[in-house]
Amino acid sequence: MSASENSILGRARAACRRAYIGVGVFSGGINLLMLTSPLFMMQVYDRVLATRHLNTLVLLALVVVLALLTSAVLELARSAILSRVGLWLDRELSGPALSATVERALRAGGTRSAQVLRDLAALRGFVAGHGLFPLFDLPWTPLFLAVAFLMHPWFGWLTLVGGALLFALAMASEMTTREPTQQAGVAMAAALNEADAALRNADAIGAMGMLPGLVRRWRERQDAALVPLALASDRTALYSTLARTVRMVLQNLILAVGAVLVINDQVTGGAMMAASIIMGRAVAPFEQAISAWKALVSARQSYQRLETILGVSAPAAEAMRLPRPEGRLTVDQLRWLPAPGAEAVIRQVSFSLLPGEALGIIGPSAAGKTTLARLLVGSQAPSSGAVRLDGASLSLLHMADRNAYIGYLPQDVELFSGTVRDNIARLGEADDPAVIKAATAAGAHEMILALPKGYDTPIGENGLVLSGGQRQRIGLARALFGDPRLVVLDEPNSHLDAVGEQALIAAIRSLRAAGVTLVMIAQRMGAVAQMDKILVLRQGAVENFGPREEVLGRLGLVAKPPAERAVPTAATEARP
Ligand SMILES: Nc1ncnc2c1ncn2[C@@H]1O[C@H](COP(=O)(O)OP(=O)(O)OP(=O)(O)O)[C@@H](O)[C@H]1O
Ligand SMILES: [Mg+2]
Repeated sequence: MSASENSILGRARAACRRAYIGVGVFSGGINLLMLTSPLFMMQVYDRVLATRHLNTLVLLALVVVLALLTSAVLELARSAILSRVGLWLDRELSGPALSATVERALRAGGTRSAQVLRDLAALRGFVAGHGLFPLFDLPWTPLFLAVAFLMHPWFGWLTLVGGALLFALAMASEMTTREPTQQAGVAMAAALNEADAALRNADAIGAMGMLPGLVRRWRERQDAALVPLALASDRTALYSTLARTVRMVLQNLILAVGAVLVINDQVTGGAMMAASIIMGRAVAPFEQAISAWKALVSARQSYQRLETILGVSAPAAEAMRLPRPEGRLTVDQLRWLPAPGAEAVIRQVSFSLLPGEALGIIGPSAAGKTTLARLLVGSQAPSSGAVRLDGASLSLLHMADRNAYIGYLPQDVELFSGTVRDNIARLGEADDPAVIKAATAAGAHEMILALPKGYDTPIGENGLVLSGGQRQRIGLARALFGDPRLVVLDEPNSHLDAVGEQALIAAIRSLRAAGVTLVMIAQRMGAVAQMDKILVLRQGAVENFGPREEVLGRLGLVAKPPAERAVPTAATEARP
């Protein structure tokens, strides 16, 4: 494995290794102490019952109780070690894992999946759980086998054959259930996705009576999962019943063999009883080793996925801090494809803006406007080409610099659960004046004060459900929070009423007065009347770019001076 010893995963591995050494030592103690019960039994049968010495019995009983208590303490200790390591692992890795997941989602072609977080949970469960104990017990099997052989070779051979038989059964169980279990897992995940989508679209389902269709599809997917699951559980039941039967037969058989040996005066009655217990202990790990091995393999896969993700995302955290940019935006030969070999969504887009310039981007649906906006704020890395703010590549910007210099209003505003204030302050610590300043600049201050608890109104899950327009206005306040140098607004007017539209126009005016570089995306020409420059995007390429009047002239539309542009007119309403 490539994680170096001082990397975060390397340290985690070293900690686990130390913990497992401790667990190994404790397991050794527990296994040795396990011999006390059969030894006690032998002594009671062969010595106490034969001699009727009650003193000996009391002494022996004290020793065995002490041994069992020690064993209990050791077991508690090894559980405690493991749960501590699990907790530590999660604390240490969950932050980096979440960051890496988000950063990966932002990269071109990166998957938007929280798999790593599930992997981390699985890894913690594995480290902290008891699933591995059979593997720690396995090395002690030879000891029990040796004791059985010492008592009598027949006991030894019977134990050996029994262990081999149980191992074969466990292997057969594993091999015949692996495929159906895998199939069921895949089908189950698909069914859960379907249910997820249904919940997200509950509105449409309720309104248009889609429930019967939904239930039918869900049932089909469920069936696809349940049939292999039933098969696997049938097979598991078969093999585990067989294994239990084999073990019970063996334990009785060993008594029968013992009886023959006792009759022939080869072993004592106590030894006969003890052999049965020792055999049970010797074969147990064989039976459980398969499931422990399975857990080990799946934890290894989780670990490798974590390693890949944590490995590649290191540089972003190390990015250099920049001095405050003036706001010069340079877009150079920008190209973006959703996946290698796919058709480009953004093709060779180049333009530049001076600090404080305002650009309106218009174009039909699916022209790539939202994609271009994501590239401009650096939330999406380009496939080739670059977007630079004062010469620094935006996709490599330090998180703190992004927080300080970039404002972005996405097309679909999703707010976090928390208060209005938390959302405007970008989930960070901020003083009230800064939050109110942003809300005022966005023209949302009055609207927020009218909410039940003003700025402290909880929103999102378990909170107030905001309307589309309210979300958009709070999203705008979040974009204007702090003192950004570049603000990108993706169709900021799509949900706004007349009041909201006025507030947006005022916000744009104050951004312009503050010399902020501004990019605004809109469907209609009318909405970008206050911009200096216009870019017409069509099928991912620049169809027209230049000062507003020039572009309007080229498109055969009459240019109007910006001051008059409060209400869109028929002439500028026209689609490009
Ligand atoms: N992550 C992605 N994976 C695959 N295709 C994508 C991805 N993002 C965008 N696209 C495709 O790129 C095209 C442009 O999408 P985009 O959202 O940028 O359009 P838009 O101009 O903003 O449209 P609208 O005006 O409807 O918002 C669409 O055809 C879309 O399917
Ligand atoms: Mg869009």
